Amino acid sequence: MSSGFNAFQYEIYLGGVVGETPDLPMDEPTMRERAREVLPPEAFGYVAGSASSESTEAANRRAFDRWRLRPRMLTDVDTRDLSVELFGRTLPAPLLLAPIGVQGILHDEAEVATARGAATLGVPTVLSTVSSYTIEDVAEAAGDTPNWFQLYWPTEDAVTDSLLQRAADAGYDAVVVTMDTRMLAWRPRDLHAAYLPFLHGKGLANYRSDPAFTAGLDENAEDPEQAIIMRWASIFGDPTQTWSMLADLVQRSPLPVLVKGVQHPDDARLAVDAGVSGMVVSNHGGRQVDGAMGALEALPGVVDEVGDEVPVLFDSGVRTGADIAVAVALGARAVLLGRPYAWGLAVAGADGVRHVLRCILADFELTMALSGATTCAELDRDLLVRDEGA
Ligand SMILES: Cc1cc2nc3c(=O)[nH]c(=O)nc-3n(C[C@H](O)[C@H](O)[C@H](O)COP(=O)(O)O)c2cc1C
Repeated sequence: MSSGFNAFQYEIYLGGVVGETPDLPMDEPTMRERAREVLPPEAFGYVAGSASSESTEAANRRAFDRWRLRPRMLTDVDTRDLSVELFGRTLPAPLLLAPIGVQGILHDEAEVATARGAATLGVPTVLSTVSSYTIEDVAEAAGDTPNWFQLYWPTEDAVTDSLLQRAADAGYDAVVVTMDTRMLAWRPRDLHAAYLPFLHGKGLANYRSDPAFTAGLDENAEDPEQAIIMRWASIFGDPTQTWSMLADLVQRSPLPVLVKGVQHPDDARLAVDAGVSGMVVSNHGGRQVDGAMGALEALPGVVDEVGDEVPVLFDSGVRTGADIAVAVALGARAVLLGRPYAWGLAVAGADGVRHVLRCILADFELTMALSGATTCAELDRDLLVRDEGA
């Protein structure tokens, strides 16, 4: 039996026979423009923006342009299976939703809508620490679909341990520790608008609802909301954290730990030495280190270093089905989709997230089949060529 994501195209074409065209855009650039129309400018800028010159985000796309598929012909591709195994669960395709914080600035139902939309297709969500709904609310929305929790690793162990325990109790399958955001980068779009949503009290649901966090609040504070925001700002990130502290965190964690933000093969090795169960090669969509290499350029080196030992996942710049195919062919077990689903959420809530996923999954299944592959395992480096001129 084939995965069948490709059938979405026939649903659309058949609609055309009775005069219907899709309400929602079929590609990322058009969905992004629709989101721009419906969002307040500062919210659009927060999602669209990257660090400083935004050259890292451009490099992410250039890195994809440099890898081209070299399709094979006349193999039997009628039966296709896109599924992959991760941490004992079967995913319908090598795709998860990347953690995107503070989704309440995009849609009232925020992360709950995202998890619900993705769950209709069995696609896992990685919930950000800085979310507009709690760990528990989003677990309920995801239902039986696997989901992971992303940790912005705070300065206080009591808060860290409490967040991880809540994620384990709520049924999350893994925790993704983001290593690249121990402080926020220089982000001109947000600076121009003097806009950081957290300082307006947004995206703090997991902190407000956390007993270890609230235990540290000053009960006599004149302005309780301001006290929450200031305590959040003081514990959010910790520039003193090191690999040995990560080893300790892995020991304490009730869930398998992946790290996110790996680019250097030596860091991949240090992460494995610290005991992680997996990692995400990512440059945070170009939002942290300006002038960094395109994230896809970092993937082969990390896969070659540790890919036989732990699953290596990838994000930063994934926009189409071919992008998924290329990343998987370079050794990614799965990819995380970022900004494209945020635009879908802004435009149409849970339906928008589902629509974006149906589009990219159909595109991926067709690209894979047309390239002569029927399983993700058949996507390998033999299917790729470099285009250095791109
Ligand atoms: C608006 C926005 C918010 C994000 N919030 C988080 C977050 O809370 N935690 C995290 O680990 N990564 C966060 N990321 C990074 C994403 O998880 C992912 O690495 C990135 O979006 C990939 O780049 P792309 O969207 O350009 O493909 C965020 C990205 C964006 C665009």
